[in-house]
Amino acid sequence: MKSEKSRQLYREAIDLMPGGVSSPVRAFKPHPIYVAKAKGSRIYDVDGNEFIDYCMAFGALILGHANEEVKEEIKKKIEEGWIYGTPIELEVEYAKLIRKHFPSMEMLRFVNTGSEATMSALRVARGFTGKEKIVKIEGSFHGSHEAVLVKAGSGATTFGIPNSAGVPTDFVKNTLQVPYNDTETLSEVLEKNKDVSAVIMEPVMANASLITPKEDYLKEVRKITNENDVLLIFDEIITGFRLAMGGAQEFYGVKADITTLGKIAGGGFPIGIYGGRREIMELVAPSGNVYQAGTFSGNPISLLAGYATVKILEREKVVEKTSKKAEELFKALKDQGVESAQISSMFCVYFGEIPRNYSEALRLNKDAFMRFFWRLLEKGIYFPPSQFEVCFMSHAHSKEDVAKTIDAIIDAYDKSRNER
Ligand SMILES: Cc1ncc(COP(=O)(O)O)c(C=O)c1O
Repeated sequence: MKSEKSRQLYREAIDLMPGGVSSPVRAFKPHPIYVAKAKGSRIYDVDGNEFIDYCMAFGALILGHANEEVKEEIKKKIEEGWIYGTPIELEVEYAKLIRKHFPSMEMLRFVNTGSEATMSALRVARGFTGKEKIVKIEGSFHGSHEAVLVKAGSGATTFGIPNSAGVPTDFVKNTLQVPYNDTETLSEVLEKNKDVSAVIMEPVMANASLITPKEDYLKEVRKITNENDVLLIFDEIITGFRLAMGGAQEFYGVKADITTLGKIAGGGFPIGIYGGRREIMELVAPSGNVYQAGTFSGNPISLLAGYATVKILEREKVVEKTSKKAEELFKALKDQGVESAQISSMFCVYFGEIPRNYSEALRLNKDAFMRFFWRLLEKGIYFPPSQFEVCFMSHAHSKEDVAKTIDAIIDAYDKSRNER
C-alpha cells in the first residue's frame, strides 16, 4: 500500500491543526489516510489506494458515497441559491416526513449538528421540568458540549480523555452517570435525586464499541423514567433511519419524550434535529422562553439531501436490505469464531469479550484492534479507526464487497489477536 502523499500531508497538518485533524477520531498512528474522492462503497486516497468503506463518515451515509439521485437534487438546488435566512417550503415537507417516521416528535427544530441537537434537547428538558440535573449513560457520546463530556465515548475514550479538561466542575456537577443495561442503578439514582430533568441515552450504544440492550432494558428505562417524572431523551443520531426507519423507538417499541437525529437525516450534509412532545417543544423560542437559534439551521442543502435520502430509504427498503447484508457478514464471522455483533446495518468486531456496558468495553484490546485495522487497510478495507466505533453497511456495498470483507476479517482477526 502506497502512503507517501498521506504521510507528507499529515506531517504538514500536525503543524497546523491540533493532532493534524478537524475531529479527533479521524487521527490514527502513524498517520491517517487522506481521501481524495469517494463513490458507492469505495473511498480513494491521495496515494491512489482504493478501499471498501465501512466507516461511511461515521454513519452519516447509508446510501453509500455520492449517491446519484441525491447528487442530482443538490445540483438543481444550487442553481437556486443555497442559503436564504428565511423559512423554506422544504422545511415543512421534511418536518412532516420526520414526524411520519418518529411520531413522538410532535414538533421539531432543525439545527446544524448532532452536538447542537443534544445540547438543545437538554436545555428544553431543563426548561420544561425546571430541574437541573441530567442522567447520562457511562460511555455514551452525545457530542462535544460541556454537559455531556463526562465519561464520554467515541474519540474522547479512544484518546483517553472521557472527562475533558476545560469543562468547569460547576458545569458537570449536574450530570449524573449510570451504567448501560442496569435498571437497578438507574432506579436508585432517580429515587435519590428528585431534581433530575431527563435521562439522555443512545438506545443502542455505538460510541463505546457496539453495545446492544438486554431484553426489555429500554422498556424498563421508559417505565422508571415515567414513574420518577423524568423525561427520556433518545439520542438517535446514529440509530435514526438505520435501526428502523423510526429508529430504536420503532425497533423496540419504546417512545421517547424528546428525540435527537443527525447523520443520515442530513444525507451526508451537516444537520441535527431535536423534537418531542408538543408541550415541551412549544417552549422553544420564539414560541417559548427556552432560547436556541442558528444562522445555518435548516439550511436548504442539508434539508434537501436529507429529504431525498429518506425518500430513497422508503422507496427502496434500504433499512431491510442493509440489515440483511450485515447479518450475512455477521453470521459468516460468527461461524469462524470472530467475536462480533450486528444489529440492523451496524456491526462491530471485538478484541475481547462482547461488552454489556462501558466498563466492560474499556477492557477491549485497543492495540490488537489497531493491528487489525492496519491489516484490513492493506487488504483494501477501511474500518472506523478505533475499537470504540462501529461499522456501517451501506446500500452501495455489493455481495462481492461483503464476501471480500469476510475473507479479509477472518484472515486479519487471528493474526492481530495473537500478536503482541
Ligand atoms: C450518538 C451521537 N450523538 C451525538 C453525536 C454528535 O453529532 P455531531 O458530530 O454531528 O455533532 C454523535 C456523533 O458521532 C453521536 O454518535
